[in-house]
Amino acid sequence: MTKINEFAWENLPRPILALAPMAGVTDSPFRQICREAGADVVYSEMISVTGLFHRSPKTSRLFKFTPREHPLIIQVFGAIPEHFAYAAKYLTEQVRPAGIDINFGCPVRDVINTGAGCYLMKNPALAKEVLSAVRENTSLPVSIKTRTQVGEMTVLDLLEAIKTIPLQALMVHGRSFSQKFSGAINIEMIKEAKKMFKGIVLANGNMNTPEQVGEVLSQTGCDGVGLARGILGKPYLFTQVKELLATGQYTKPLFSAVVQTILKQAQLMQKEKGDHGIIEMRKHLGWYVHDFPGAKNLRNQLYRCLTYKEMTEILLENSRRFG
Ligand SMILES: Cc1cc2nc3c(=O)[nH]c(=O)nc-3n(C[C@H](O)[C@H](O)[C@H](O)COP(=O)(O)O)c2cc1C
Repeated sequence: MTKINEFAWENLPRPILALAPMAGVTDSPFRQICREAGADVVYSEMISVTGLFHRSPKTSRLFKFTPREHPLIIQVFGAIPEHFAYAAKYLTEQVRPAGIDINFGCPVRDVINTGAGCYLMKNPALAKEVLSAVRENTSLPVSIKTRTQVGEMTVLDLLEAIKTIPLQALMVHGRSFSQKFSGAINIEMIKEAKKMFKGIVLANGNMNTPEQVGEVLSQTGCDGVGLARGILGKPYLFTQVKELLATGQYTKPLFSAVVQTILKQAQLMQKEKGDHGIIEMRKHLGWYVHDFPGAKNLRNQLYRCLTYKEMTEILLENSRRFG
């Protein structure tokens, strides 16, 4: 296994399958589940550099991780270079993830109103300041995650504007700011970004099946992909993509195998957050059982569970019925 301080993007196997960052979803337990299911690298939820600068306890909680998640990329967002400088130094000295990623793609109003997320793409001068602040304060690999376009500014314009700053990886969400989270991804723009950027390029957006991942890889020529909503309730998508690429086919897991994954995640949640972890896991439960027979009834039963024990009893009972 790679040692924590020896991570290099270019040493990952190809194609690289990454768990893309998702606030409220890609916490430490879920990242562990995805690494076990075959993710080659996992991203944290986005973390505010300003929260970190002001030492918000909520922000510090998001840094917890275990060696089982390695390589973990911590994603940060913000718009104040001084806060980025502080965050880069702090992460490098105190947290030691495999790498630091900067969010250039979040379209949420509270984030863009501060000039962060997507709006950093519209402001190349600030983008350069932010990236220089991070680069000068860390020895870790630095990456960015962008959209294809924000207003007039494309990811290609951004790459041109920041080309003097050494970055190791780029994840392109193939949708524009105005598309938010729906619609087709722009294959051509991702392909151009791959040609232009010297480091690792990961395509992201609208990949929900192993076949779709295979198509995007061959159409864009990217080094890998970042999977987001396609993974919800289906961490085994990572395994299936690997199976498909190696053998031309893949298997669908039995309900009993999905139950084992749910229980494992629930155990990790309970360990990290106590019984509240089980309540926080409810959204995952809905995603996990979504495609199984009687999903609505099962989901309603699971949503009422308050403890790990109650959840286990319901799942094992259903597991006996479905196999
Ligand atoms: C619930 C949720 C939370 C997200 N949080 C983040 C985040 O913290 N940072 C980020 O860069 N993108 C975030 N995204 C965007 C995803 O990483 C991804 O770019 C987007 O969902 C497109 O991929 P998909 O079509 O496969 O879902 C989030 C998306 C969702 C659905």
